[in-house]
Amino acid sequence: MRPNFFHHIHPPSIPARQSRWRYTLGAGGTAVFLVLVLIITGSLEMFYYIPTTREAATSIQTIAYLVPFGGFVRNLHFWAAQLLVVVCAVHLVRVVFTGAYAAPRRFNYLLGLALFVLAILLDFTGYVLRWDTGIHWALVVGTNLLKTIPLLGNTLYVLLIGGQPAAVLEPALSQATLTRFYAWHLVGLMLPAAFLMGWHAFRVRRDGGIALPPASLRTDNQRITRFELVRREVLAMLLSASALILISIFAPAPIGAPIKEIANLSGEARAPWFFLWVQQMLKWGDPFVWGILVPLIVLAVLALIPYVFPKPAENELGRWFPKSNRLAQVVLALIALLVIALTLFGSLAAS
Ligand code: HEM
Repeated sequence: MRPNFFHHIHPPSIPARQSRWRYTLGAGGTAVFLVLVLIITGSLEMFYYIPTTREAATSIQTIAYLVPFGGFVRNLHFWAAQLLVVVCAVHLVRVVFTGAYAAPRRFNYLLGLALFVLAILLDFTGYVLRWDTGIHWALVVGTNLLKTIPLLGNTLYVLLIGGQPAAVLEPALSQATLTRFYAWHLVGLMLPAAFLMGWHAFRVRRDGGIALPPASLRTDNQRITRFELVRREVLAMLLSASALILISIFAPAPIGAPIKEIANLSGEARAPWFFLWVQQMLKWGDPFVWGILVPLIVLAVLALIPYVFPKPAENELGRWFPKSNRLAQVVLALIALLVIALTLFGSLAAS
């Protein structure tokens, strides 16, 4: 077979262990696939979505119920976004639990973490674009958390969320807020995400591919060609696509009544699922501490993992749970358990 474009973007051959699903879980590749689905389905939605406070929710209802295949395309977009957050989390856990963040991959770990944050923010901004009563928490509580930041809060709010200075008007009322969210979603977050994705993929290759012990310490020197690698990637893509299509057929993305007046918003004040853990923590007291500071500390701890924890031993790379990076595994497991437990409490409390 003559190599095509997709073969050419891969090295001619790689060590077989770098492509084992039970090692990589295929999470990085699945994330790339989901981003492509998001770009295509999001572009299609743009033909019908109207980013005005009066018409946003009804234009989404038009997409969901009147446009041929509109509901399906919208469901694909919604579910690909939710899955992307989950797949990024799985990928992060795999990278830490295999010690794959060690030098020379430390910088790429940070690029990946930035991508994770961008995936969450893209999900959040996309969620607000619905402009229905279901986005109550995100619009009123979530965005107002910014104002709790000492000294910079109000300025940051006007800069990032738009609207009038806090004291004058209920800022979330304004069209400026929706316009700002639309711009963040389509350009301000999507462009950096696309750029970082390219950089992340380039760094995977430049850092020597998926982490393995150096050749002299390897017991298994089997290699696979790029044809086999692309075949496995296509298989993973077909499996992910089937799962996504099935979910999109049977589980419609939510859409509620359009927002009439922010002041009288009566929809459920529930955070989107990926911020339920923050909503739960806000019950413990100071909104700045629990809503901004603690999530930032969690992010900082994750970012510091490759820099402050003991370096995984070279001969232990390429497998799960190396002894040499136990501390990083324990820290990540604790963070993950805390976030999952708070998310579960949050969803039970809200149901
Ligand atoms: C949209 C988000 C992301 C995309 C598209 C992406 C894509 C990829 C791909 C395709 C690979 C190679 C295959 C694999 O390891 O599965 C990879 C590897 C890697 N990723 Fe990501 N990734 C993302 C997020 C993250 C996150 C959240 C982290 C961690 C903070 C991360 C850190 C890394 C590291 C360190 C490697 C090298 C792994 C190794 O050598 O074993 N990435 N990524």
